[in-house]
Amino acid sequence: MVVSSEKDLAGLRRVGRVCALTLRTMAAHLEPGMTTAELDQIGARVLQDHGARSAPILAYQFPGWTCISINDEAAHGIPGPRAIQPGDLVNIDVSAELEGYWADMGASFVVPPAGPRQLRLLEAAQRAHAAAAAEARAGRRFSAIGRAVEAVARQTGFRILRDLGSHGVGRHIHEEPHFIPAYVDGNDQRRFSEGMVITIEPFLSTRASRTRTSPDGWTLRTVDGSLVAQFEHTYVITRGAPIPVTVLDPPERA
Ligand code: CO
Ligand code: CO
Repeated sequence: MVVSSEKDLAGLRRVGRVCALTLRTMAAHLEPGMTTAELDQIGARVLQDHGARSAPILAYQFPGWTCISINDEAAHGIPGPRAIQPGDLVNIDVSAELEGYWADMGASFVVPPAGPRQLRLLEAAQRAHAAAAAEARAGRRFSAIGRAVEAVARQTGFRILRDLGSHGVGRHIHEEPHFIPAYVDGNDQRRFSEGMVITIEPFLSTRASRTRTSPDGWTLRTVDGSLVAQFEHTYVITRGAPIPVTVLDPPERA
């Protein structure tokens, strides 16, 4: 969507805040031995307490309130009986609808004890996200994001998952513009414009640059079993720094 009023911005901030609260609560309860279904239920309660609906259920009849993806699972992992293990790399993706506004966010965590490679991957994925967000402003090409993520991947020795992209959001979970790549596509002439609502969510892996869908029909796994980390927020594009809405304490409008 394109934000055209303070009402739109306020609506996005409300649903974004609920997503942030849900993700923070789930992360705080993350511990070895619990199942991903139990973790999902913690998130479901927070969403319900705030009158929000799960975006993946609402839009796709996904079999879970949130997506929980472990180790080589990049995205769309189904909450279930799998018990979380010490040393697991866990991605929690929370997207929701409230009062007609939709927001999307995700973050990766290592359940202690964390290995040095996992920590480097997490840090690189965080850097890639921040570098991409710094380039997302009205007038610039989408490929500016890809250039920023490529630079971080090069510096850190990790790879970009090329089949997962950022996307428009706001009035639906996935809307125009579809698939903003986390790499440079020289043919992509599209540009950011003021008020555009998008996610930024580069995925970095220890080796793979592609995923494939698991037999369960949802879970995207790296083709070679390599590990993945991702950090995602929903932003409103401005002529300056983009405004993150999936946060607990939103900054003032730039
Ligand atoms: Co997304
Ligand atoms: Co997401």
